[in-house]
Amino acid sequence: MLRTPDALLLLSLVGAANALYKQWIPDTNYENQTNWDHGAVPCGNDKVKFPALRKVSVFVETTHAVQEMILPVDGEFILNSGAGFYVVSGQDPDCGAGVTTQFKDSESVEWFNPALWQAAANLDDLQRGNFLFSVHEESVPCGYDDVVFKARSSFKVDTSSSESSIPVKSVSVLGKKFESRSEFSEYLGTRSGQLQFHGSSAVTVGHPGCEDPSGCDCGNSANRERICGSVTCASPNCRKPLLPEGHCCDVCGAIVTLYTAASFNLQTYRQRIHHLFLTLPQYKSIQLGMSKVFKPQRLMGFIPFGSSAVIQVVILDGEEGKQAERLARDISKDARAHGSNLGITGDEFQASSGSSSDQSGAKAATVVGVVFGVLIMAALIVVTVFLVHKGVVRMPSMPSMPSMPSLPSLRSLKRDSGVGELGGPLDHGFDNPMFDQPNALPDVLGSNGTGANSSISLTQSGVYFVNPVYDDNETEFSA
Ligand SMILES: *[C@@H]1O[C@H](CO)[C@@H](O)[C@H](O)[C@H]1NC(C)=O
Repeated sequence: MLRTPDALLLLSLVGAANALYKQWIPDTNYENQTNWDHGAVPCGNDKVKFPALRKVSVFVETTHAVQEMILPVDGEFILNSGAGFYVVSGQDPDCGAGVTTQFKDSESVEWFNPALWQAAANLDDLQRGNFLFSVHEESVPCGYDDVVFKARSSFKVDTSSSESSIPVKSVSVLGKKFESRSEFSEYLGTRSGQLQFHGSSAVTVGHPGCEDPSGCDCGNSANRERICGSVTCASPNCRKPLLPEGHCCDVCGAIVTLYTAASFNLQTYRQRIHHLFLTLPQYKSIQLGMSKVFKPQRLMGFIPFGSSAVIQVVILDGEEGKQAERLARDISKDARAHGSNLGITGDEFQASSGSSSDQSGAKAATVVGVVFGVLIMAALIVVTVFLVHKGVVRMPSMPSMPSMPSLPSLRSLKRDSGVGELGGPLDHGFDNPMFDQPNALPDVLGSNGTGANSSISLTQSGVYFVNPVYDDNETEFSA
């Protein structure tokens, strides 16, 4: 099964671009029983009450019998075609004794709550419920994502943020897709727009999509505090919990870090991993999230030197992380076997059992870099000493400084010992064969990753549709 990478690359033709669709989950629909304080949609014997001060936009899909209805001071019903209300005279036999039921004053439903979004690679997957797992920061829409509010739905979202605006690529509301900044800000000014979106900052549409086939950094870390503020972490039940980049909680599972070349294609690779592994029965309960993140880099494990873009694969199995670790090893093995085709130059993984890989290409590259650095330093010192010794370079003489007597003595010692002329250690400094060797890194740029690139350019022409039904049929009145 692991020997069919090319066939799998072809499968990627089905994919879309490397941005995701993020769909808002809660709604303010009349038919959703979770919106009623009795947990049931009111029927013919019930009195329906909307809290007076709750400004809400309610979507109504069909007709409903009511006994009595108390409306809020401000709000709207968005009626599907054929939807409406009627009053039953006498008792409705299909309805219970009759209660007063109230439309719930929703708890704060914040844009930056990662639990309120679901992500998918395309609209089709969104509709079919093929959702993707993401770390918390990326569960909330990234700047290059398409945001979807369900077509037959209204909602109310609090867009308060510490930034003045929330940039996204596009927003779909009631089946209409807004892609231009001015058009959407016009919508925000309408009655529906004002009831649906409230809060200190405005969602702005028209942010560029992710053009980099290897993926883009989500860019939500500026809102990390707000995002993690609405997350409650379960206490992890494993030896060495891991904290993935962009996640709010320690988790049990495994993290694979991939170092990539220009030919790497995130969308293609995501599909490859899905087809190769996630369809296997033993990985049925696995949650896997894959994205480009900026990972702080440390020289020799402790000296920080900036950050670099890597592909982070977060694998959770909902248990102690044993299955996750097994999958991490499989992915690691696959990356080594087919790395040159996939544009992967190195990989490493950590598991919450405490085990990790360290003999990866990227780590090796770091080590090689460090070794080179040390060798160059050593060579410089040796060359300097050699030149000084040969008299080509003169050390500044410091006769007036009795505190440094070691310099002349070192000189005379060297001369006397006769190690000088072209002694062993000096030769090593010049002739170290490592300097002439090609880099130890695998040559990845020339690999045949072009197949992946051309497939993504096909897929980037993507298939999405705007449902025209609701524009035409929707009627709306304000109560
Ligand atoms: C009803 O609302 C809840 C919470 O907002 C949501 O999770 C659920 O999907 C909605 N039900 C339907 C049928 O849309």
